[in-house]
Amino acid sequence: MTKISISISVLSFLVMVSVAHADPQKLAEEKQCLICHSVDNKIGRATGFRTIAQKYSGKADAEANLVHMIKKGGVGHWGYIPMPPAGWKRPAVSEAEAKQLVDWILALH
Ligand code: HEC
Repeated sequence: MTKISISISVLSFLVMVSVAHADPQKLAEEKQCLICHSVDNKIGRATGFRTIAQKYSGKADAEANLVHMIKKGGVGHWGYIPMPPAGWKRPAVSEAEAKQLVDWILALH
């Protein structure tokens, strides 16, 4: 019982935190995306979000593919360095948060 109520309070805390961040760039900071990505290729580890937007924006399946990529990780779209799945040494990202991040990224082009 205690475990369940702890999980519920953690969950409601997470919901509150995600609702509190209407600004997607802040969400990207909080989810630690900006450790590897910058908006404009200012850091080297991963491709900048604007470049990613230029590749995918306007493509019909872009949102679903990128949401999947954020949640599950992947490699080979930009090079040989893999992106780890969200939740692995970084905060977990819900479906709604991943969508919010993808919509923000795709609008950067
Ligand atoms: C540990 C470093 C790292 C972190 C943290 C990280 N990424 Fe990535 N990301 C990468 C790398 C490396 C790639 C390129 C992978 C590839 O070539 O397929 C990538 C690729 C992407 C892509 C393009 C995917 C594609 O299919 O072309 C998107 C979108 C993306 N990341 C969004 C995010 C978001 C949003 C977050 C935060 C929730 C995040 N990333 C956190 C390293 C990272």
